[in-house]
Amino acid sequence: MKVLVTGGTGYIGSHTVLCLLEAGHQVAVVDNLINSSAESLRRVQELTGQDISFHHVDLLDEAALTGVFATEEVDAVIHFAGLKAVGESVQKPLQYYHNNVSGTISLLRVMDAFDVRTIVFSSSATVYGEKNPVPYIEKMDIGANNPYGRTKEQVEDILSDIGAADDRWHVALLRYFNPVGAHESGRIGEDPLGIPNNLVPFIAQVAVGRRDKLMVFGGDYDTPDGTALRDYIHVMDLSEGHVAAVDYVAATAGVHRWNLGSGIGSSVFDVLHAFERAVGHPLPYEVAPRRAGDLPGFWADPSAALADLSWSTTKTLDQMCEDHWRWQKNNPNGYAAS
Ligand code: NAD
Ligand code: UFG
Repeated sequence: MKVLVTGGTGYIGSHTVLCLLEAGHQVAVVDNLINSSAESLRRVQELTGQDISFHHVDLLDEAALTGVFATEEVDAVIHFAGLKAVGESVQKPLQYYHNNVSGTISLLRVMDAFDVRTIVFSSSATVYGEKNPVPYIEKMDIGANNPYGRTKEQVEDILSDIGAADDRWHVALLRYFNPVGAHESGRIGEDPLGIPNNLVPFIAQVAVGRRDKLMVFGGDYDTPDGTALRDYIHVMDLSEGHVAAVDYVAATAGVHRWNLGSGIGSSVFDVLHAFERAVGHPLPYEVAPRRAGDLPGFWADPSAALADLSWSTTKTLDQMCEDHWRWQKNNPNGYAAS
């Protein structure tokens, strides 16, 4: 199958491109490089020995996107392209709705025009909001509590409506939990711009000497060690989940929703200590007040993905941290020095 990957130079996209190529698919990538570097794809080509056709295109540019579909014989789309910082989305909601929702509408219009109606969409566990009990199950009502999450919810609604109106659409809505780690080669990984928002990239920059210490946001949650629980998933497991999902939906019409998580809740201290084991020494930290908007704990019920896709996570928290550390140690400034 020829898969067009939007956002394919980004963190999860670049790992998924690698897994798609290794599974025997052909790949084309569209990305506007607003939060990534094309160096990631050069390295995926080096790791796989295969060519990837790259289009430096913004999804909002429907004419340019039409040009991409006119030159590539696309069978299916995996749609990662989007802005993803929760805090920034509160400050700049219009930018988030425009980029993430309008960008997706532009993509869907062009897909429809070219009779390409198979799509795998990057949704997020954040759509479950604050009211659902854990573990989260796909059939629960959703209701995100921030603009970023609402862009994911709105795109889920659009894709569900399209699927209901026209049974030629094949749609997968993938709700990711907390992706971390890197390809085991240490050649590709997460390369956040500026100060990392997320836990593992922040710890990795402390370990490599770019930050003084980790601030642990909240030590007074009602959890075993007082810090918040999340469902961390290795980016390679997540990427394999995309390959399984695109293969499944290519053969099965309708709208499908799957959690991609491990089903295990790990605390901030669990992650910190796993990273310390990978690095080989303790790392400096300080317990700080809770971060606004954070939940005490959430994790997936991953049983639907196991039943339908025969997919489940295989990698441990220690492997996630070892692989993340290898990438960070070998590339202290990410792709910048390349
Ligand atoms: P990323 O920022 O590394 O990748 C997103 C890519 O999309 C970037 O390369 C960026 O340049 C590109 N992009 C953004 N807007 C674009 C546009 N209008 N046109 C073309 N390209 C555009 O992020 P990631 O961590 O790889 O996340 C991929 C997807 O998964 C995103 O949609 C994100 O919201 C979702 N997601 C991520 C997480 C996470 O914790 N990383 C969790 C749940 C869901
Ligand atoms: N944390 C710290 N210190 C830090 C960063 C994070 O203690 O410097 C804590 C947070 O308070 C939270 C945990 O580490 O308890 C995980 O935080 P992340 O920012 O890594 O992840 P979140 O669960 O807050 O959110 C992430 C993505 C969202 C996505 C969500 C579910 O950032 O976009 O996972 O997929 F919606």
